[in-house]
This record gives sequence, C-alpha cells and structure tokens, in this order.
Amino acid sequence: MEIFRIQGSTPLEGRVKISGSKNSALPLFAAALLTDEETILENVPNLSDVNFMAEILSELGAEVRRINSNSWSIRPVSIIHYAPYELVRKMRASICLLGPLVARLGRAEIPMPGGCVIGNRPIDLHIRALRGLGADVELSEGIVKVDAKQISGNSIFIGGRNGSTVTGTANAIMIAVLTPGLTVLEGSACEPEIADLCRMLKSMGANIEGIGSHLLKIEGVTKLKGCRHKVIPDRIEAGTYIIAAAITGGELIVEGIDPSHLGSFLDLLRTSGLRYKQHKDSIEISTSQRINPLEVVTLPFPGFPTDLQAQICALASITPGLSIITERVYPSRFMHIPELLRMGAHISIEGSSAIIRGTDKLKGAPVMASDLRASAALVLAGLAAEGETWVQRIYHLDRGYENFENKLGELGAIVERLDESELPKSIYSLKSHLNS
Ligand code: EPZ
Repeated sequence: MEIFRIQGSTPLEGRVKISGSKNSALPLFAAALLTDEETILENVPNLSDVNFMAEILSELGAEVRRINSNSWSIRPVSIIHYAPYELVRKMRASICLLGPLVARLGRAEIPMPGGCVIGNRPIDLHIRALRGLGADVELSEGIVKVDAKQISGNSIFIGGRNGSTVTGTANAIMIAVLTPGLTVLEGSACEPEIADLCRMLKSMGANIEGIGSHLLKIEGVTKLKGCRHKVIPDRIEAGTYIIAAAITGGELIVEGIDPSHLGSFLDLLRTSGLRYKQHKDSIEISTSQRINPLEVVTLPFPGFPTDLQAQICALASITPGLSIITERVYPSRFMHIPELLRMGAHISIEGSSAIIRGTDKLKGAPVMASDLRASAALVLAGLAAEGETWVQRIYHLDRGYENFENKLGELGAIVERLDESELPKSIYSLKSHLNS
C-alpha cells in the first residue's frame, strides 16, 4: 500500500484547476445505460471510483471505451440485469445502477451496498421510490431484486429522516424518465449533481421540470438517445482546496468552478472572517488575517456539505477559540477526530457535534486514513502541522481527488507518495504495537 509523507507549515500559493465532479460523474455513467446509443462523457475526473464504475458497466455488457484521461464513450447495446457482487460491494455509489437497469430492462438484481465508516447507509428511500411506481422489490440474501414489468407514473415523497437522498433521487429520476405517465418526486435532493444528471437526461430526450428544486415533474418517454455531456466541476474538491489555503495561511485562486455550487460554504467563509473575491468561475482566497471560531451544521444542499465537514474540523483545530461542528447528515461521521487528536488537536464529541478548542500548532504524526473525506482532512492538517505527517491507506484519497499530491505540490506543498515500506521503523514498531 502507498502512503503520503507531508512536510508541514508551508503556506499554499498559486492557482489550482478543479476537476470534474466525482459525485456527478458516477450517476452519469449509470444514466448512460438508459439508451442503447453512444454517450460521450467529458471532464470526467481521473479517479479510481470512475475506473471502477467503468469496469462494472463493462461487466453489465456495455461497450466502455476511455477516449482520454478525462473522456469516456459508453455504448450499452445490450446489457444484463444483475451487477456482480465482487465489484458492487466495494463502492456504495453502484446503487445508482438500480434505476437504469429497472428502467431499461424492467428488472434488476443489485447486491445491497456494503457498510461504510461514515455511518449507516440505508436504501429504504430508493425502495420507497421503486414501490411508489408499482415495482415489486424483494431483499433476499443481501440482494435487492426488482421486478418492474408493470410500473407507471405516480406522486412520491422521497425525503427521509436525515433530509433528502442524493443517489435515491438519482435512481428515482432515472426510472421515471422511461416510466409511462407523470411522476412527481417531492422532497428530491437539489444538489448540483442532481441538476447535472437532469440536464444530461434532457439532452437525451427526457421530459423533466423543476430542475434544481425539491419538486421534480417527469413525463415518461418510450426511448432516450445518446448524447455528449460535460461533467460539472467538483464543488467538494474546490472546498477542500479553499480550506487548504485557509489552514496554511496561503493565497490561492481556485479556478474552473461554479461558485453557485458552493452553497452556504461561502457564507461560512464570510462569517468566519476569511477574505475572498468571487469571480464567474473562480474564487480568490487571501488568508492573511486570523479567522473567527467556526459554527457549522451540515445539511443537504444548499446547506453546508457533509463532505466538507472533516476538512473544516481540521481548520477549526488551529482556529483560536471554541468551534462547534454539528453533523446532521451522517451523525457519526467523525472518524477523522481520533487522528486529529494524535496531531495535538483539542476536540471532544458531544452527540453529533465536535467541540473544538483551537490550538496554536498541530504536530506532525503518523495517521491512518479511513474514508475519502477524513483522509483529505488529515492531509490538510499535515500541511499546517509542524514537522512530518505520514498518512497511511491513501487509496481512500485516490477515490475522490484527482492528482492530489501533484496539484498540492504545484502550490508549494511538500507531499510525497511513497510505498508504506518507507515508513520510519519507529512508526512501524508503533504500528505493530497498535496492531498487537
Ligand atoms: C451522496 O451519497 C454522496 N455520494 C456522498 O458523498 C454524500 O456524503 C451524500 O450524498 C450526502 O450529500 C455520491 O453522490 C456518490 P444520501 P448518498 O442518500 O446518496 C439517509 C463522498 O465523500 N438515507 O444523500 O449515498 C442517509 O443515511 C460521498 O463523496 C436514508 O435514510 O447519500 C443519510 O443520513 C460520501 N435512506 C442521508 O439520507 C435512504 O434510502 C443522506 O444520504 C438513503 C439515504
């Protein structure tokens, strides 16, 4: 396995170009299954999760061809209705295949998504949408089996106890676009990634009204055609770099973004005292001044994104005063906290809130990545810390951050990707001690 060795305390300076959105690209790959014609996806981020989704589509029978590092061609002339367990169990987002397989073939068999370190990942809302359209859904031996030979449009509320569901909304939309009659989806997620999916489906011939709202009206059609679609920029990657600038006291231009996708994240920057200039497709951050303690509550879009919660905890760790970060989407999404404590942070967890008393400096240490966004938070902490930080299990990062160490390196960060055998023996003995 590979690790990052990070030499901290270097302010980031310069410009960084944001890649296409992982959380848009993955449902768009699934949506390409809705037609037997060719779909070309551009501005696709070069990530392991994307390569994985491409592999699953090939297993389903689609002709999948990589045109270049950020463009793909998908031509699903004939596909099967069941996804291989070995592949699907490794990536939660593969649940997005449910919608297109049901819509195209009238049936689907998808293994239940596996467990996840960020918390419970149920699919009851996905199933509610399917049953709301008249499909038979059975859960047996860890497989979701759907028979949808006789389905028709209906009004369905798909909101849940933790707010709306992003991939649940994506699945409901992808079924409804090929289901006869009018489907009204109330309580839809309105994340930019859902709007991106709707725009691609419209270019394929779908009838969708209310794009960007919590109420979508979809008139089913009999067939969809292929299309060429450019994936929107990754708002979470953009937010991660903005926080990287803040935590290192640097000056950064984050470009190739749509600032309207950052929702309340920008509002938080304003209230925390961070100065920035907003342009049409970039944000200019200057972080010379100290910032105020942070009060954050994560919510579905346009609220503060849960996918930036770990990163803002890292920033709060060195922000003078008492910050409170409350997680409303995945209440136990705090795997990054024990690792930040190893770096000298002062954090306690009260229910679904992290209470963080800012310290002057974090200290570099060997830390363990656990999920995609927690790993990013540990890299940011390492960039700000005194001394060396060794981040292990960085395959988590490769799932969602394209070219991470090179983009950071171009901004002046000292980040090396090494084999884990390069870990200093002292750490190894610590590691073996921890594993004993
Ligand atoms: C998407 O996951 C993202 N993944 C996640 O990003 C993101 O954290 C999440 O949305 C929330 O914004 C992709 O888009 C591939 P949800 P998703 O269904 O769709 C509850 C990352 O780091 N819920 O919107 O799986 C659920 O427990 C990843 O890039 C139900 O109760 O999340 C959670 O509390 C991590 N029943 C809330 O809704 C359901 O049937 C939001 O989940 C489905 C969800």
